[in-house]
Amino acid sequence: MIKKGIILSGGKGTRMSPLTKAVNKQLLPIYDKPLIFYPLSILMLANIKDILIIVNKGQLNQYKKIIPNGDNLGIKITYKEQASPRGLPDAFILGEKFIDKENVALILGDNFFYGQSLTDQLLNNTKLKKGAKIILHKVIKPELYGVAKVGYKNKVIMIKEKPKKYLSDLAITGLYFFDNKVIDYAKKLKPSKRGEIEIVDLINKYKKNNKLSADIIGRGGAWLDTGSIEDFYKTSAFVSAIENRQGFKIACLEEIALNKKWISKKNIINSIKFYGNCDYSNYLKKLI
Ligand code: G1P
Repeated sequence: MIKKGIILSGGKGTRMSPLTKAVNKQLLPIYDKPLIFYPLSILMLANIKDILIIVNKGQLNQYKKIIPNGDNLGIKITYKEQASPRGLPDAFILGEKFIDKENVALILGDNFFYGQSLTDQLLNNTKLKKGAKIILHKVIKPELYGVAKVGYKNKVIMIKEKPKKYLSDLAITGLYFFDNKVIDYAKKLKPSKRGEIEIVDLINKYKKNNKLSADIIGRGGAWLDTGSIEDFYKTSAFVSAIENRQGFKIACLEEIALNKKWISKKNIINSIKFYGNCDYSNYLKKLI
């Protein structure tokens, strides 16, 4: 059972400059909440309550203003600063002490997931005992992502980072589940041509040992991009469309915690005070 999770929320967000010059990308809004709420909600939906958030050096205070700690959400949040982005697997090197002897999930701070059966899928994936699991989703432009070619019963045949030549239309999303070997494997990685250690190389170590499996988010689920300014607005529009139609909020952290009975009405009242007079607080009021 995976009980620990890491959100890698560093990066310079250069593609979104000047918006990201003063503020970290993951703190910018996707409609009515900071982007970081969405990946955090995914870990919470997966019943992961012990969470490490890795942020850029110098930006810790900004994060703590929005998510001071997990107390009011019934979870434990630890922060760690990253001096400079060294590649995604650095999360496991920086997170070594946090992970300790356990298995771990990793979600990238800019990944957005939504779908009816997503929670069941997440809970199923946290059952991982040995090996690694990647989550795939069909996209029109696979060349922008890590890509996996799968065979019978979703067996992973080949994976490649941003392949120029068509391999498959299944992108490797930024949500991964690993056993404890991930720390050792990450430490042994050599930087690629672009000078970073690569998640695909890490996943390939599991593949070589026949310890890699894949799960596919089908067409009823959404995995959206927040890579560019245009993607940001499209994802915001998606959230706005759903929320204003149904009246439910996507990634309302307090609602998830309350539904899971991790917190009580008292915590919701604390949150209302904390956020102040706003639409999000009005939604919280309706919960109690
Ligand atoms: C990273 C990974 C890539 C993955 C993507 C998901 O790419 O390297 O394999 O498909 O995240 O968001 P990046 O966004 O850093 O280009």
